[in-house]
Amino acid sequence: MCGIIGAVAQRNVAPILIEGLKRLEYRGYDSAGVALLQQQEIHRIRTTGRVVTLEEAVRKQGAHGITGIAHTRWATHGAPTEDNAHPHVSGGIAVVHNGIIENHEVLRAELRQAGYVFVSQTDTEVIAHLVHFYFKTSQDLFAATREAVARLHGAYAIGVVCNSMPNKLVAARQGSPLLIGVGVEEHFIASDASALLPVTQRFIYLEDGDIAEIGLTSIAVQDKNGQPAEREIMQSEMRPEMVELGEYRHYMQKEIHEQPRALSDTLQELVTNGIQPMLYGPEGESVLSSIERITFLACGTSYHAALTARYWIEALAGIPCNAEIASEYRYRTSVPDPKALIVTISQSGETADTLSALKHAQSLGHNYSLAICNVSESALVRESRLNMITRAGPEIGVASTKAFTTQLAALFTLALVLAKLRGKIDAAAEQKHLEALRALPGQMQRVLALEGQIQKWSEHFAEKQHALFLGRGLHYPIALEGALKLKEISYIHAEAYPAGELKHGPLALVDKDMPVIAIAPNDALLEKLKSNLQEVRARGGELYVVVDEDTHIQEMDEIHKITLPLHAGWLSPILHVVPLQMLSYHAALQKGTDVDKPRNLAKSVTVE
Ligand code: M6R
Repeated sequence: MCGIIGAVAQRNVAPILIEGLKRLEYRGYDSAGVALLQQQEIHRIRTTGRVVTLEEAVRKQGAHGITGIAHTRWATHGAPTEDNAHPHVSGGIAVVHNGIIENHEVLRAELRQAGYVFVSQTDTEVIAHLVHFYFKTSQDLFAATREAVARLHGAYAIGVVCNSMPNKLVAARQGSPLLIGVGVEEHFIASDASALLPVTQRFIYLEDGDIAEIGLTSIAVQDKNGQPAEREIMQSEMRPEMVELGEYRHYMQKEIHEQPRALSDTLQELVTNGIQPMLYGPEGESVLSSIERITFLACGTSYHAALTARYWIEALAGIPCNAEIASEYRYRTSVPDPKALIVTISQSGETADTLSALKHAQSLGHNYSLAICNVSESALVRESRLNMITRAGPEIGVASTKAFTTQLAALFTLALVLAKLRGKIDAAAEQKHLEALRALPGQMQRVLALEGQIQKWSEHFAEKQHALFLGRGLHYPIALEGALKLKEISYIHAEAYPAGELKHGPLALVDKDMPVIAIAPNDALLEKLKSNLQEVRARGGELYVVVDEDTHIQEMDEIHKITLPLHAGWLSPILHVVPLQMLSYHAALQKGTDVDKPRNLAKSVTVE
């Protein structure tokens, strides 16, 4: 989704802004723009398409400045045209914005009455005019921005500069992410830390309702009540090389191959110190001992992690769970249960649907919350009572891969902690689970070694329009995840079903043109699944089956088989999803799509 970067410095900030925009590209966008302050003038350049086009325009026009803001836009209000691209300008004020202003129509009418002329279809343009409107009276950029944002309904992160104040940048956030990068006699703003790693690793994370006035040597923050606020400067553990591609062709490929490392980092504390509720924070034991049920809230891939966790927690800890799509829960009349633990799952921790679902749960009186998240400074973590940070490292590809498997590792850990607290596992069982978890990264390495075989499979998918994924039990959410991956980056329409459900409708779709991908681990449901696969074969469907070593499914014409190591028991979903990730990656390569930035999608979905 939209990316923001801004800088006040004593050097030309144009290259810093362009580099920052490149580092924000992964969020998804369709146009880009920059505004630089040059001798009391705003030099604005906007282009559609990729940041390199903007970079070229900046170079050709020799644009430079010691203060500036820049933006990548993911279109919501108005098509991805140059006129709709940010920054938006009103008089000497320039604004970049991430989020959605829900009352923009009312404000637009009011500003028109006041004589403002609108040149874009965006909701953002009202912010530029509003700041200008108030600035005319006060000549104070900070005060004008504060008055303007008080009029806005919805979500925003904004950066504002003014041509008469060459060393000043004003930033504000409500519902959309924004941080301040702290340098030496230079400061920055950005949507996320990765954009600023070449210039600083010290960050201030703004809170909802904060407004900041940023100069060369000063940062003053006011909170939502207009009071001066102290915000801690945090040292990021992220290193610039963590977000570099290295030897890989795409971030998705790199991130798939990083999974063994990501898993062992995520599990390190557990396998070293054993199963203990402190893993979730100081209140871990008291909260996790008090709860009687769990509601998971998440979106997309993270929702699939929730669905998998439900099987683990109900079976191992005996605690009833339900998993809900965050955007549905948010607007559903649900029955609150004070004994329920609300578990949100998110890679970014900034997904607007998940964040507002959590806030909704809190407003209903839910007091127990746990965030499973890959970004320790994110809004979701800050809003939750307990947290467990997955150690996947920055995930750049839009398709979530290592974030998913580390979420699963964190959720399996949760199942073990809850089971231990309820006396459902003894010391011997604990040791067995820990051994299995220790072995997981090595097993994952063996699965990754199957990439050549998967690549061959993918050649069959280049011409396909549709695909069907089947799984049962614990592996049904993995089938859902396989289908999501395939549609997301290869644009092949894919559906997933619990295999037992096939005969209740989807079997009608099966013919020789419909590849059916089945996940067939050697678990209690294998024989049932084999019968379901016979139903597919009998209708001429071509089967692609991911099996465990001892599954005894024969490869033959129209049954293709890829064999994983011996059945990994409860941890099997964490391994079985990997071939599906690789399949979608190679199918996308076959189709020539933009793997890391698939059309219409954004990495961090910060609008509802
Ligand atoms: O950052 P989150 O985990 O909250 O994101 C949720 C979804 O937007 C995300 O998982 C999405 O479905 C992925 N692009 C799937 O690969």
